[in-house]
Amino acid sequence: MFVRQVSRNIWSHRLSQKSYSMAPSLVQPSGFPNVPYEFEKSLTYPSRAQSLLGATLLSKIQNIDINTCSPDALDSFFVCDLGELKRLVRLWRAEMPRVEPFYAVKCNSDQKLLHTLLQMDLGFDCASKTEIQQVLALGADPARIIYANPCKAVPYIRYARENNVNMTTVDNLDELHKIAQFHPDCELLIRIRTDDSEATCPLSVKFGASLQEARQLVQECANLKLNLTGVAFHVGSGCNNLATIDTAVRDSRMIFDHASRLGFDLKMLDIGGGFSKSTFQASAAVFRTALNTHFAAQEFPDLQIISELGRFLAASCFTLAVNVTSKRSDAFQERIYVNDGVYGNLNCILFDHQEVEPKVLTSNGKFVFHSNYNHSEKELADSSKTYSVWGPTCDGLDCIAPNCKLSQNVAIGDWIYFKNSGAYTSAAATNFNGFTSQNECLYIDRVLCCYGIDIDAVAGWLGSYGGEDSASDVSRGLFAGHVGIPRMLKMLDRYNIKGTWFIPGHSLETFPEECAMIRDAGHEIGLHGYSHENPTDMTLEQQKDVLDKTFKLLTDFCGKPPTGSVAPWWETSQAGVEMLLDYGIEYDHSMSHHDCQCYWFRTGDTWTKIDYSKKAEEWMKPLQRGEETGLVEIPGNWYIDDLPPMMFIKNSADGYGWANPRDIEDIWRDHFDYFYREYDEFVFPITCHPDVSGRPHVLLMHERLIEHINKHEGVEWLTMDQVNKDFRARNQPPAGAKLPATNATT
Ligand SMILES: Cc1ncc(COP(=O)(O)O)c(C=O)c1O
Repeated sequence: MFVRQVSRNIWSHRLSQKSYSMAPSLVQPSGFPNVPYEFEKSLTYPSRAQSLLGATLLSKIQNIDINTCSPDALDSFFVCDLGELKRLVRLWRAEMPRVEPFYAVKCNSDQKLLHTLLQMDLGFDCASKTEIQQVLALGADPARIIYANPCKAVPYIRYARENNVNMTTVDNLDELHKIAQFHPDCELLIRIRTDDSEATCPLSVKFGASLQEARQLVQECANLKLNLTGVAFHVGSGCNNLATIDTAVRDSRMIFDHASRLGFDLKMLDIGGGFSKSTFQASAAVFRTALNTHFAAQEFPDLQIISELGRFLAASCFTLAVNVTSKRSDAFQERIYVNDGVYGNLNCILFDHQEVEPKVLTSNGKFVFHSNYNHSEKELADSSKTYSVWGPTCDGLDCIAPNCKLSQNVAIGDWIYFKNSGAYTSAAATNFNGFTSQNECLYIDRVLCCYGIDIDAVAGWLGSYGGEDSASDVSRGLFAGHVGIPRMLKMLDRYNIKGTWFIPGHSLETFPEECAMIRDAGHEIGLHGYSHENPTDMTLEQQKDVLDKTFKLLTDFCGKPPTGSVAPWWETSQAGVEMLLDYGIEYDHSMSHHDCQCYWFRTGDTWTKIDYSKKAEEWMKPLQRGEETGLVEIPGNWYIDDLPPMMFIKNSADGYGWANPRDIEDIWRDHFDYFYREYDEFVFPITCHPDVSGRPHVLLMHERLIEHINKHEGVEWLTMDQVNKDFRARNQPPAGAKLPATNATT
């Protein structure tokens, strides 16, 4: 239904900006001040979600110059936070563990929203053939679709049958007879009426059988030998009267009992929608109690309970930004005209009875998003200016807010935004007066995947694996350089992934041609010691000499200094970290305090080893934490590293090297899937080596894994330096922490 420009590259777009601390100021008609974005952000240090939203809005509007842009460039646009969507699904599952969410597509049929929900195993509630078609095209299982419209056109019923959509709701005898003729095996849920008179959008005026009618429907199902499987209800969209919930669940139970007396064994209860984020905890509690009272789990062990959630999931994920196109003031009021209105995406004011709250995004060209993000209109001082806000059409009905306070003055060309604009907004937008209803949507997606490839090669055998005296082992190192590197480059190129190659000085000097291929293909190159020597075995002087030589080698080779480092064997030392910072190194990828979140590297932790020759009290001491530094840690994880399970090392007694890559793939995929389900943002750093991943069985594993990961919404493959820059742009370094030197010692 909506043709929206997909903006997957929002991250890379931002990341490609030259400066992080000072994003370009807004391009506005002359006279507006230049505003450094960081300045505004640092006033509050907002939550990450808010920060991302602000950055995404800014990334769009800062490139628009109303003096020169194309006519369509100024259109209103949405930002959709898929992380918020995942948070809400998790919240639902925590609060309503007995109830499976089926998303009501009618609420907002944004393709990426639907795709994310599909990946999180939600079912779908479809109201029409087009909605069924849309979710089937995304790959939804027809068994996880409920055609939840009690009144359906015959061709649509046939369409459902032909496409194996075998579950629907009915609330009248005529519908039952249509089903008997055109989809006789369909699973039927009788939709009963609720008292939804206090809901924002009552539905029972149109749908729902009374209890008496419902009993007749059960009887007719028995007469026609139809597949009656359950009961459905909806307490009204925007349910404001929680008492109605218990009644609806109790009434459902009555129909269950009645059906049972007629020989049916009902197995499904559909509790509909009606949930809003602001009242969710309260209504979830009422539902839990009602379900436990009328459908106790012990009594109904096989009951499937589903819900048809719309507003709860879609509303708060979307923010709408509109542009101030005109102003008109007289003695009585100041009117502003914006380029979206009640015939467009703000139709929710008319159709859904929503009260929308305009907020200032830019004031006279100044980006003020964060300053007013958390303040409601009601909290604004009486002295705040009052406006009436109007949509773009020529109709007097097109009024968004007749009398609203704004936190700052706005001028022509400024932007206003509306939070919570995902439910029943774009879904019913029209083109009235020729204005577009197909607005761009930018997505906040936060799954940052990266490849860290350590070219251990011969250096690995010299420094760590114990093969330094074996010509055979060293030949395997030569394989890694000459064969493994080109194969891995080919594999990454196939998926258009730029990795980060951590190259020991020894490997660079031994395989200059292969390393040049890496550099010339646009991959990042970082430090990894010289001979893969263990930092903790070296003197300080040796550590410094190794760092100095390898830093210079890489700087000369790449024409710019490296910004990242992987410690050989992932062993770091406090002095080593300080040295890295002195050399301007910004991030490390060696530690495992977390497995999917970046953090500020802490150094100087101390702990007491057990000394059995001493009294216990001398070694019973907790770990002492050291100090955080300004080095970003992109965590390493032995479980997402190809080498421990799949590299044969003669000195390793437990036969490592023959793990089946399909098993390793399972472990890596489980990590990814768990992070995807549990975190609305995460990094997924893969650590591998051409020594191992250059082998055919492992290359094929990478291909399968990348294809699995790429099926997920929000996935972006970045270099580790891009991940580091992103983290730095959004997180303040700990107070007093040692920061990377800006004029690195070379
Ligand atoms: C049959 C049905 N199911 C689900 C919904 C979604 O309701 P809500 O957005 O309140 O969750 C609606 C809304 O109109 C509906 O009519």
